[in-house]
Formats: sequence, C-alpha cells, structure tokens
Amino acid sequence: MKTAFLQLLLVGSFSVSALAASEAPTVDVYKSPSCGCCGKWVDHMRANGFNVRSHDTHDVAQHKYRLGVPYGYGSCHTAEVNGYLVEGHVPARDVRRLLKEQPKARGLAVPAMPMGSPGMEQGNRKDHYDVLLVNQDGTTQTYTRY
Ligand code: CU
Ligand code: CU
Repeated sequence: MKTAFLQLLLVGSFSVSALAASEAPTVDVYKSPSCGCCGKWVDHMRANGFNVRSHDTHDVAQHKYRLGVPYGYGSCHTAEVNGYLVEGHVPARDVRRLLKEQPKARGLAVPAMPMGSPGMEQGNRKDHYDVLLVNQDGTTQTYTRY
C-alpha cells in the first residue's frame, strides 16, 4: 500500500515536470544593454518556466515596428513568443494565458513602466495598470486589470 502510494507520487511528479518542459516556449527579448528593469523582467519570465533568449540592441524600436506595437503603447523592452508580441512588463501568467487561448491578435502590451509590475518592484509604490490585448488592426482592449 505504502509502495503503491509512493509510485503514484513519483509518476505524478514525473508527468508534471515533463509537461512543464514541453510547454516552455522560447521568448525572445529585445532590450537595451543598460536597462536594469528589462533584466529583472527576464528573470521573472525565467522564474516562471519560460526559456528566454535576451538580445541586447540599441534599436529596440525596430522590433516594436516589426512586431506591430501600436504607436504610443511602447515600453522599455519588446519580446516575441510564438509569433506574438509582448511589450513591456507583462506578467508571466498573462503570457501563459495568451499562449493557451491563442487569440487572433498581435499580442500583449503594458505601456510605459507601471510601478509594481514584474521587474518594476523596486520601491513600495504599486500602480494600477492594464495588460492590453493588441488586436490585429492595432486597436487594443483590456486583457487583465492589476
Ligand atoms: Cu522597464
Ligand atoms: Cu524593460
């Protein structure tokens, strides 16, 4: 009885980690080499199981344009995952939801740099902010409120 339970436990944990590995998509991040909060967002994504390739560049704007970040909705860094854009300090859980739901959209954006968002936890101020879904036509709608 005890052995059977142990086996169940082992099988259970094995399948969970196998699932986690197969569901870990690669996130390409484009950021300025001197951006501290960008590095912290990369850490946040890695801590939440994403494979992150971090690319230092002096022309992040080029990637915003390429991926279709609407004018005025930019932040410090731009990322790309499974063909979606992820602009700024978007929480990992919203990226996971995006990949699960696969909406017909360009991706997600948190414009500017709200205090208290992932990678922006320095200090004790917490701003309310919206994660926006960027539609294919470049309009946006609220995806999650924080
Ligand atoms: Cu930032
Ligand atoms: Cu950044």
